[in-house]
Amino acid sequence: MVEVGTSSYYRALGDATEEPALKAICRFIAGDELRHYKLFYTHLKRLLEQDNIGTVRRLRLALGRIMETEDDELAYAFYAANNQGEPYDRERNTRAYMRRAYQYYRDPHVEKALAMIFKACGLKPHSPLFQATNYGAKWLLAKRQRNLAKLAA
Ligand SMILES: [Fe+2]
Repeated sequence: MVEVGTSSYYRALGDATEEPALKAICRFIAGDELRHYKLFYTHLKRLLEQDNIGTVRRLRLALGRIMETEDDELAYAFYAANNQGEPYDRERNTRAYMRRAYQYYRDPHVEKALAMIFKACGLKPHSPLFQATNYGAKWLLAKRQRNLAKLAA
């Protein structure tokens, strides 16, 4: 799931910038992260033959990992790079980081990330369930983008 986040973020960032060096660097990193995902997916398939982990449990694990994107790690990294000497405020720095990060995501980035999540959970991408989830994910992201922008204003 980490590779879903990193590959989609670097793809989104690379697509958003017009600066050629940054665009190239982001595309290389996104490609690396996609290869990491493929490596983990290969091992996942092997391990699933040994352990019987169903789709529901895999989905629960995936959602748990996705929710971790709003934990302290990214918020504190943002704080460490941007603070002006003020004390650390987890919520404020989470919002500040997420507002900046989410603004680069477009529909194809969400769709690709969701397809990777579906595949890792044993669900079929491009199924009716995928289409419905994709619609919901795009709606949630747009709502989150609007809320974060409103809170920053
Ligand atoms: Fe990675």
